[in-house]
Amino acid sequence: MSGHNVWTHKGTFLLAAVGSAVGLGNLWRFPYLIGENGGGAFILVYALTIFAVGIPILIAEIMLGRTSRRSPIMGMRHLTKTHRTFRFWESIGWLGAAAAFLILSFYSVIAGWAIHYTWLMFTGSLLEADAQAISEGFTALLASPALMTLYHTLFIGCSGVIVGIGIHKGIESGLRIMMPALFVILLVVLAYSVINGDIAAAARFLLTFNVANLSIEGWLQAMGQSFFTLSLGMGAIMAYGAYMTSEISLTRTAIAIAFIDTAVAMVAGLAIFALVFGAGLDIAQGPGLMFITLPMAFAEMPMGALIGGVFFILVLGAALSSSISLIEPVAAYLVERFDMTRPQAVAVMVIAAWAMGLLTVISFNIWAEGSIFHALFGRSAFELIELLTNVFMPLGGLMIALFAGWALTQTEVKKELDTSATWFVTWRFLVRFVSPAAVAFVFLRTLPYVQGYLVPATGALLLVSLFALGQRWIAKRRQLTQ
Ligand code: PFF
Repeated sequence: MSGHNVWTHKGTFLLAAVGSAVGLGNLWRFPYLIGENGGGAFILVYALTIFAVGIPILIAEIMLGRTSRRSPIMGMRHLTKTHRTFRFWESIGWLGAAAAFLILSFYSVIAGWAIHYTWLMFTGSLLEADAQAISEGFTALLASPALMTLYHTLFIGCSGVIVGIGIHKGIESGLRIMMPALFVILLVVLAYSVINGDIAAAARFLLTFNVANLSIEGWLQAMGQSFFTLSLGMGAIMAYGAYMTSEISLTRTAIAIAFIDTAVAMVAGLAIFALVFGAGLDIAQGPGLMFITLPMAFAEMPMGALIGGVFFILVLGAALSSSISLIEPVAAYLVERFDMTRPQAVAVMVIAAWAMGLLTVISFNIWAEGSIFHALFGRSAFELIELLTNVFMPLGGLMIALFAGWALTQTEVKKELDTSATWFVTWRFLVRFVSPAAVAFVFLRTLPYVQGYLVPATGALLLVSLFALGQRWIAKRRQLTQ
């Protein structure tokens, strides 16, 4: 599309995509999932999925953005027209927008907790606290809707301001300051954990591959995590890809994103476990690992309050660079489709996601267990929203893989990828067969009532593939007869 924005520098896409990928998923979720799932074996499955499923879909998603040069929703509409395939595929854009909206709503609430802990650390409030007081402090935060709403508002407001300013002055400039700072802080925290923690125990834990420790549930969580951490299936990467210049290698960039994202997760995991082991604490604390266990470790160590505060700044920065990528695809759509100004479009998305986030806020207190919501849905609103995103994310990824592998005109795809024949064939094999099968597996896990029907469900997947193949064939015929 003429006039569509392009990043000012060649390297900005990589910066932006890494900013989106590196976030709470790396610093908060990855370590606690490893802690719960027994170390190295989890990492092995995670790494395999990143390689066989994540990278191919990442390439596909960037490509869809870059060829269409539009926001995900408008881009998908454009591609279904120009490639003469079914309009059904447009749902990829809508699904992504819905998932981005839902994720932003709870992501901002959790990032808000990090604001609270940054404050507690820098003011030294946790220094005199014992383990019980720290744990009770977290419970008290969750019990306060007012406090959580305040932090949630601050966080989502900041994200909105950055995106509202625009992709150059807001997103690009913001990332150019934030990202290098985050890497420096990560290294400082790592160095601190080497000096004060038990890095050998952490390394042993992360690198011991005891497959017996890994349940099937753990396998599936590892695969789900690789999606979340690479920001796949939500249009975030597609929206950023739309601003990427054509000269840059898609495959190389995608591999770099996956590599950096994994490296950050591993370094963060090493540092966090070194501190937790060093303080003799329990690593299997689930989501509380960062907000309860880690503050306890910092409370015991020299300069713990300062480094702890710096660590939570890292968490905040990483979360911010991810949340802006959740706003961008929807904001860009509103600008393109309804001719809104950028600040107006951002305001619509941010206010709606903010209001939705209130559901997450109250699911820890007013609507906690025992409330009407629980009685009706069998889970809290937050758990329901998470479940929905866990369905939308793999579903989006699956459809992106099928669309890129089967529905698009492959000569065009080959041109856009601009890579060697061998790599093209390998990529196509992965997106056509391997990724869909693997994603279907993750996806089906999220639907409790399907779990017993994995085999028929995989059959259904095969049918979808055949359907895609069929419609490709029809499109080709149509082209020939014109
Ligand atoms: N990748 C981010 C993380 O690991 O925290 C989360 C995320 C950001 C998911 C943006 C999806 C997305 F579109």
